[in-house]
Amino acid sequence: TEITSRTAAIIQEMKGLEGPLLPILHGIQEEFGHVPKDALPVIAEALNISRAEVHGVVSFYHDYRSHPAGRHVLKLCQAESCQSMGSDAIAAKLKQLLGIGFHETTRDGSVTLEPVYCLGLCACSPAAMLDGEVIGRLDDEKLDEIVAEVLS
Ligand code: FES
Repeated sequence: TEITSRTAAIIQEMKGLEGPLLPILHGIQEEFGHVPKDALPVIAEALNISRAEVHGVVSFYHDYRSHPAGRHVLKLCQAESCQSMGSDAIAAKLKQLLGIGFHETTRDGSVTLEPVYCLGLCACSPAAMLDGEVIGRLDDEKLDEIVAEVLS
């Protein structure tokens, strides 16, 4: 398939690296926007590890997605500084407004919600990132704006 051949090409490129699994997964996610299930056996075979091992790594690291992302990707910081500034309450509110949990995508495919662990914006906690742009000092008003934007 298209996925397996593109996966094979990425593996070929990175296989010589020391500890090639993470860079390969990274390359695959960059290529497809997620790590497709069909890519796992190809990686396992090329690196001579089990499919379960590859799967374990994909699910261990928060950065890898096993499903395609929505049109928007909203990452909410859950690290210490943001925690101390109320990111838990913000996460709860966002989950409720969007009707999804972390690592999920709304049914219409509009947005994927993901946790992230420090955006380097601790001085402006609580922080988020929407489609690659950081947003600091989240409050109810900003949340409403974000939700309106991603669901529009
Ligand atoms: Fe959230 Fe650093 S802890 S930006």
